[in-house]
Amino acid sequence: MRVLVTGAAGFIGSYLCERLIEDGHQVVGVDNLFRGVKDHLASIIQHPMFRFVEGDVSQDHVLDACEEAFGGFELIHHLAAINGTRWFHEAARTVIDVNVNTTLKTLAAAERWGSRYVFASSPEAFGDAANMPLMERSSSVFPSSHDHQRHSYGGSKYLGELAVQHALATGLDARIVRPFNAYGSRLLGDAYGQVIGMMFHAVRSQEAINVHGNGSQTRSFTHINDVIEGFVLAGERSHSVDGQRLLSGCSFNIGSSEEVSILELSKRIVKVTGTQIAPVVGVEGYFGDSKRRVPDCSSAERLLGWRCSTSLDTGLAEVWQELTSHP
Ligand SMILES: NC(=O)c1ccc[n+]([C@@H]2O[C@H](COP(=O)([O-])OP(=O)(O)OC[C@H]3O[C@@H](n4cnc5c(N)ncnc54)[C@H](O)[C@@H]3O)[C@@H](O)[C@H]2O)c1
Repeated sequence: MRVLVTGAAGFIGSYLCERLIEDGHQVVGVDNLFRGVKDHLASIIQHPMFRFVEGDVSQDHVLDACEEAFGGFELIHHLAAINGTRWFHEAARTVIDVNVNTTLKTLAAAERWGSRYVFASSPEAFGDAANMPLMERSSSVFPSSHDHQRHSYGGSKYLGELAVQHALATGLDARIVRPFNAYGSRLLGDAYGQVIGMMFHAVRSQEAINVHGNGSQTRSFTHINDVIEGFVLAGERSHSVDGQRLLSGCSFNIGSSEEVSILELSKRIVKVTGTQIAPVVGVEGYFGDSKRRVPDCSSAERLLGWRCSTSLDTGLAEVWQELTSHP
């Protein structure tokens, strides 16, 4: 297949491009390098089946440049977005602008090219929904916009999902994938990064791991290989595993069922790295952070045949090994 991956130099996008090339597809990866790292694509950048386009995917001329590479696309994985909690508060309008407009633009391109479309949404699209686990069709609950800007991101993903559902009416074949806290060795660990990346970064810099609040907030961390498998299946399958159902319009939660508190995570990172520096608990976190986020993945399991196969302990050990073998 000819596949377009937006956000290709990002954390998930770079692994996805590598996997699609490995599977024999022609892949164009586009990224404006706002957060992406071109080096993530080092293993495929010279591959004859791969092209990298640097630019903002909400610009027509950038989409034209993507199209010119192999001519149209049968599949688009739309991952370009501004992700990373600190941005949600600091740059709420940019988050809304980029996340909504790149989605509208790529949806229109998919309609033009007749491509299948996979939208990288997020569990944040459920807002502050308190009922766990989050089902594929749980309702979203957002607090008053007076309170904080955290939901610039979740709100943008919710609007993206609405736009995708609306585009089905034009005949677009589209699916929604919601990864639950993906982690891997390319996860950035700077102040704008995500928790596992930041904790490993702290250990490597010989600093203490920071635990926001009392650390009782929980997440379901999902190894990058499992996340990539979810995207690949969501992009490849036209029907459910049993052949009974078309997958267009479906959404898939892609996450581990292992719910872990952030305090527990910090302890596991101490164990896997052997650091002698104790975590610091009670560090001020981000206002409005969700307390729990647990997926129900039954649609992904039943319709895609997806299974989460990497336990947190195995995954953390693998990531630490990769980080320390490539300094
Ligand atoms: N990492 C996770 O755990 C997670 C969880 C839920 C959802 N997601 C979603 O999955 C997708 C990928 O996430 P990630 O963790 O790899 O994030 P990331 O920040 O590493 O990747 C996003 C990429 O998009 C690029 N980008 C931003 N604006 C762009 C634009 N206008 N044009 C072209 N490229 C642009 C960035 O430079 C970056 O490389 C995002 O849509 C994110 O919201 C990720």
